Amino acid sequence: MEDVELRKLDEILDLGVTSEQYHSTRRKILQAIEEAGTLVDLERERIASLGKAGVVSQWLKLIGTVPPENRPFVSSRFNRLKDEITSALAARRAMLEAAALDARLAAETIDLSLPAPEAPKGSVHPISQVMDELAEIFADMGFAVATGPEIEDDWHNFTALNMPESHPARAMHDTFYFPDRNGGGREMLLRTHTSPVQIRSMLAQGAPLRVIAPGRVYRSDSDATHTPMFHQIEGLVIDKGIHLGHLKWTLETFLKAFFERDDIVLRLRPSYFPFTEPSVEVDVGYANEGGRRVVGGSGDAPGHAWMEVLGSGMVNRRVIEAGGLDPDAWQGFAFGTGVDRLAMLKYGMDDLRAFFDGDVRWLSHYGFSALDVPTLSGGVGMPV
Ligand code: PHE
Repeated sequence: MEDVELRKLDEILDLGVTSEQYHSTRRKILQAIEEAGTLVDLERERIASLGKAGVVSQWLKLIGTVPPENRPFVSSRFNRLKDEITSALAARRAMLEAAALDARLAAETIDLSLPAPEAPKGSVHPISQVMDELAEIFADMGFAVATGPEIEDDWHNFTALNMPESHPARAMHDTFYFPDRNGGGREMLLRTHTSPVQIRSMLAQGAPLRVIAPGRVYRSDSDATHTPMFHQIEGLVIDKGIHLGHLKWTLETFLKAFFERDDIVLRLRPSYFPFTEPSVEVDVGYANEGGRRVVGGSGDAPGHAWMEVLGSGMVNRRVIEAGGLDPDAWQGFAFGTGVDRLAMLKYGMDDLRAFFDGDVRWLSHYGFSALDVPTLSGGVGMPV
């Protein structure tokens, strides 16, 4: 039957496709498909036979040139061949895919007896952790976090804080100045404290106001306890009828929460800051335990001493004015302290310079887990 049909094909098709050609091409195609070793090879075979310029596609195009009475026969022959090739391709593809999957499964075998791989582990720097602790403590007392630029102008950093040019207090700040565009110098500087955020907050938000402003500050100073860049946190409250009692309660509540102990005793000493009047320096009692300062108890108790931790005072009328507010209507208190120093005291580091060395041994020893988010309920600071 097959031969008859093929001969018939020969006879009717004056197409340049002899039965031999048909036969041998069919065999070659099917064999190449059967032998395709990869999906890429298989695709090449598909294109060679059924692709736009493929042999079989070319043949299919010839159907139109066959006399109408013979067309059904020719058409069915060529289409049967096309179907035959299509299913051979599909079968081979399935086989190759299954083999590829088997190979992958074999290669990806997991040895469950191996120890778990060490996950790369970073840690949260104690300064970041302490700043988060402070934000958490003060948020609970109704303080929002404010920020200001580290590249500050002379007015915000000094003049508006009641330190006009030639004020002697400026000399204490060892300021890094930027050269001026017009050659003069001294207009822009690296802020020497976070106090300019007091002015920026008042101007931006008005009163009443309760903010803390943690951030980097800069002074041209460097030894074991001073680095040219360090961190401060500023606090500012502006409201009606604010007095020193509010300041003392706030600082006491904050220090008790921060050091997580109730026996914190404060000593307020008269002091001087141009931007507060009166000004007080705040000391906490501490004892030396195992070569480490541990905060707690009165500094006058046996084995105890006082240590200065904060500068503060009632906001100077001139500063309230510079903040765009009426000092007869609004009063306030402000405080500032070193974040690095607080961190050293709480977590027992003794050299400030190590904070900024980026030594991974120091970081992994003093760092915190990223999951140890400080909360008042969960505790504001447990080392990893
Ligand atoms: N800005 C002061 C300093 O850097 C600290 C301070 C802030 C004092 C606010 C009083 C009020 O030393």
